[in-house]
Amino acid sequence: MTEYVKLIFGDREYELPLLEGTEGEKAIDISRLRQDTGLITLDYGFASTGSCASAITFMDGEKGILRYRGIPVEQLAEHATFKEVAYLLINGDLPTREQLTRFSVLLNDHSLVHEDMRHFFENFPRASHPMGILSSMVNALKSFYPALQSTEEEINITVTRLLSKVRTLAAMSYKISRGHKVVYPRPDLAYCANFLNMMFDSPVKPYAIDEDVVKALRVFWILHADHEQNCSTSAVRIVGSGRVNLYAAISAGIAALWGPLHGGANQAVIEMLTDIAEHDNISQVIERAKDKNDPFRLMGFGHRVYKTYDPRAKIMKRMAHRILEKLRISDPLLDIAKELEEVALKDDYFIAHNLYPNVDFYSGIVLRAIGIPTNMFTVMFAIGRLPGWVAQWKESIDDPRWKLSRPRQIYTGPLERKYVPVDER
Ligand code: ACO
Repeated sequence: MTEYVKLIFGDREYELPLLEGTEGEKAIDISRLRQDTGLITLDYGFASTGSCASAITFMDGEKGILRYRGIPVEQLAEHATFKEVAYLLINGDLPTREQLTRFSVLLNDHSLVHEDMRHFFENFPRASHPMGILSSMVNALKSFYPALQSTEEEINITVTRLLSKVRTLAAMSYKISRGHKVVYPRPDLAYCANFLNMMFDSPVKPYAIDEDVVKALRVFWILHADHEQNCSTSAVRIVGSGRVNLYAAISAGIAALWGPLHGGANQAVIEMLTDIAEHDNISQVIERAKDKNDPFRLMGFGHRVYKTYDPRAKIMKRMAHRILEKLRISDPLLDIAKELEEVALKDDYFIAHNLYPNVDFYSGIVLRAIGIPTNMFTVMFAIGRLPGWVAQWKESIDDPRWKLSRPRQIYTGPLERKYVPVDER
């Protein structure tokens, strides 16, 4: 039986349907609000607004829960491969062995990128940020692979092509930026190992694949694979709602992820920790983060949804310890991060604002340990998030309620006035 929320406006009473998700979260359905009442809602940053119903990812920000298609992220990080997680997110269920084999074959088949794309790479200025390059190259894929994306089969090929080529494009951008020879994908290597090999193999020093490094990357990508309606995913859904091709929608997601308040935070955390290492100024950094007149924020802290410890950050912190120990690396930034966390978590400001480390706080330390340069961190996040973006895009286009995203506004500008010719102004 549908429940309703009563709205009294003027001398009339309206009933707005109440919806409930499978985990008990409730929402007021306001789709007919303007039509029935003439009112709209206003919600900066969409903090209280749901943009869709989704069966992909469940988060409980108060309890620190994250599940993909119902499966806790902790279990997936411990036992699954990134390929399985990508399949789970996109198709709704874990693959059978046969489905997994077929998926792997398709990923291998599509892993090469068109040789002409190399000219694009070579013409970016040397100082270009890899996120700008990746976003442009993904958008450019439509020109190189112009096939339609109308039928289920065409969409599946585009999806596989993207999942596979994004790794190759990311590794190519790194190699070319260093002036090194591009390393091609190898069909005998699994998804994560293949990427590491394309990044680090060279004619003078063959790359030795270390299973612990592969595992660290696998866990990093699984933890980033989806996070429901975050900034970049909403960008993918909103841009996709105009029925643009999938490459363009994903390119928009990559651009949105770049920002330091979102995926770019992993790079910003390492820059902040490096600055602390150079100036020994933890207490100064904490004071700056609390100062309302200073735009500085403690990077890698706080989250729109999590008001407790981010479950991904817990896993990432353990992983940082494990990989540094395994590789016998002593990274002073890990000690600084732990000290900073300890000071912040005891501070009244951070307690009162429910600010805890998010996924980006420790992820940079893991990426540094496996040899990823700092300016590639957000690209690593983008590769991990791709299955989530694709799953969310697919869900949106398959939804019979799919509509062009087009929010309204409250206009606060001047009332109608006359045009004044330039000489009379
Ligand atoms: N350092 C200091 N103060 C903070 C921080 C922080 N990292 N994060 C939030 N606050 C404070 C704000 O100043 C504000 O204080 P006030 O209420 O006294 O004015 C309050 O907490 C709420 O902040 P909002 O910006 O309204 O919260 P929102 O939900 O919009 O912010 C965000 C979430 C953007 C992630 C924020 O916590 C932040 O800027 N963190 C640092 C950047 C970061 O780590 N981003 C990665 C997030 S995870 C991801 O996207 C992958």
